[in-house]
Amino acid sequence: MEVRGREETERWIKHYSSAHSILLVGEGDFSFSLCLAMAFASATNIVATSLDSYDDLIKKYKNAKANLAYLKVLGASLLHGVDATKMRILPVFQWKKFHRIIFNFPHAGFYGREDNPDLITMHRNLVRGFLMNASSMLLPDGEIHVNHKVTAPFGSWNLEDLASEYFLLYVGQDDFRIEDYPGYNNKRGSGFRSDEPFPLGECRTFKFKLWPGVQGFDLIQTMPPEFQVPVKMQQQPVPLVRPSRYNDVHLSNGLRLNIDHKKECHRIFGAYLDHVEQTFGSTSYDVYHSVREALRLGFEMYMAAEPGRPPSGYIGILEELHHLCVLRSQRLRQMLLTLDQQH
Ligand SMILES: C[S@@+](CC[C@H](N)C(=O)[O-])C[C@H]1O[C@@H](n2cnc3c(N)ncnc32)[C@H](O)[C@@H]1O
Repeated sequence: MEVRGREETERWIKHYSSAHSILLVGEGDFSFSLCLAMAFASATNIVATSLDSYDDLIKKYKNAKANLAYLKVLGASLLHGVDATKMRILPVFQWKKFHRIIFNFPHAGFYGREDNPDLITMHRNLVRGFLMNASSMLLPDGEIHVNHKVTAPFGSWNLEDLASEYFLLYVGQDDFRIEDYPGYNNKRGSGFRSDEPFPLGECRTFKFKLWPGVQGFDLIQTMPPEFQVPVKMQQQPVPLVRPSRYNDVHLSNGLRLNIDHKKECHRIFGAYLDHVEQTFGSTSYDVYHSVREALRLGFEMYMAAEPGRPPSGYIGILEELHHLCVLRSQRLRQMLLTLDQQH
């Protein structure tokens, strides 16, 4: 390694630097992580994860054992059994933020034709869950990268739309060329041919970041006013940001909910509240007030169960609840579509 005085020289490979803290999820045989580590001559800045357990990886991929051993020697943090759609509530990631969060070729498994709408929904849900989690694990100047095929039917996953659901800004896409990543072997990752590559064809690196000026969790209230709900959902143009209606969550014991955590609740539920209002129109029933009251009561009960505990746990519960709501509404929509097709 080149050394200048006591400072190590920063090394780059494509979009990634040895000075970045990098999280990789959904790794196959860990050859991509190892490629970065080799380029940096170190992996101390890398957290590499797989959904598979260590034992499954060794069975599935002939090079996984050697790749993982090498990564460990280079100082990588290796985690297995990490579901990218739930990772942010893992204790190991509490308060951990990254410059780059990478998911190479997310795919929910091989269950028949790739143009099957149900299968596309499964794949999109995987990316959706990943983006939701990654968005709260990103440093303010960080980027989420998803490498993805753009030929049909993969192009119809519409990653930009999914990202906008979590207030991520789509910053563009670059050609993905496997030869830029020496040693990387893309893997099918599921089924009895897990260790085989899939044809790459035309692929891109999709890049997303937090809205400028947004610090991690602090999303909804700092979003630019021009960020609107998609036109197709609107009955009237209503910006997602309505700070005046979100103000002041006072607890009955005289405490005030810490401003940052208050914003957290807004980030999680703000879009939901707007959606409710747009769907049902304005009624005498104040949905904002009711939800705010429910959040206040929930928070009081949470704190009463174990006085003095950090409010972050409550935020984690809300995130999980939000995720379940999204899944449930997708499921309901799917059921309605199926019913439509039957009649
Ligand atoms: C097409 S393979 C790509 C594997 C690897 N990223 C590569 O580029 O070679 C899709 C990967 O997504 C992973 N995956 C599927 N669902 C996941 C989830 N919920 N969380 C994390 N990884 C997931 C699978 O385990 C598999 O490794």
